[in-house]
Amino acid sequence: MSEQLLKASAQLSSSLAVIVRGAKKYYHMGSETVKALDGIDLEIRRGEYVSIMGPSGSGKTTLFNVVGGLTKPTGGEVFIDKTDIGRLGPNELAWLRCRKIGYIFQTFNLIPIMTALQNVTLPMIFAGIDRGLRDAKGMELLKMVGLEDRVQHKPTELSGGQQQRVAIARAFANDPAIVLADEPTGNLDLKTGMEIIHLMAEMNRARGVTIMCNTHDLKIIDASDRIVWIRDGKVSKIETKDQVEISVGQMRERATGKTAEEQ
Ligand SMILES: Nc1ncnc2c1ncn2[C@@H]1O[C@H](COP(=O)(O)OP(=O)(O)OP(=O)(O)O)[C@@H](O)[C@H]1O
Ligand SMILES: [Mg+2]
Repeated sequence: MSEQLLKASAQLSSSLAVIVRGAKKYYHMGSETVKALDGIDLEIRRGEYVSIMGPSGSGKTTLFNVVGGLTKPTGGEVFIDKTDIGRLGPNELAWLRCRKIGYIFQTFNLIPIMTALQNVTLPMIFAGIDRGLRDAKGMELLKMVGLEDRVQHKPTELSGGQQQRVAIARAFANDPAIVLADEPTGNLDLKTGMEIIHLMAEMNRARGVTIMCNTHDLKIIDASDRIVWIRDGKVSKIETKDQVEISVGQMRERATGKTAEEQ
């Protein structure tokens, strides 16, 4: 690790994988200011699976971009694995993004001319891993996501769910400290979406990787340890899985006018 990266590593509790303090992202549009993030505070523990929920336009993708070091916040701080990413230069940030963070996008973002194996091993090329090890690890990851018989297929030769599985395998390529997902089930049907959610939960448990996942999808509650609700660029509430299940149950009761016992 370089000196600059070491300096940026604060003495923070090692049990936290992500710390967001007072994060703001303002966009100036003519005379208007759009407050995409308006003072977000959030701590995510190592190995936790946290879902970010909120209506369209509430700031979920902006938070994904800010935590992932893809967008510079207007104010506030983001620590990934004890490193204050705002203090990193471009090379250090590129190193951190490659080694510490895995990204999963709604539209998969695979490289069309590359096979499944080449897509999964690409981040390992950037990390300087040699070919033999890359291919072995790529095969292992594709096996983990159930695609060991599709390694030579290109994205157009795969179904949507299979493409998202390749993207998940790719996100885990460099043993990241955290995997960020932005609506990973948004382009999938109900059944395939469920499979992807459970696959991410399995990877989270098996590898102990921290996951922060943006979603509109209440099904994801099942896999999450905590749910962070955001609205107008602010955290409106944070609930554990059990609390959300109770409030969803109450919503159902109110809708039917019956108590749980009567149903
Ligand atoms: N580059 C930009 N310039 C100006 N405004 C932006 C920009 N990016 C996002 N916004 C605004 O910031 C707000 C938050 O956007 P964001 O994409 O984070 O929402 P979201 O919660 O991900 O929504 P969705 O569920 O629809 O994906 C929106 O009002 C959006 O219009
Ligand atoms: Mg979004």
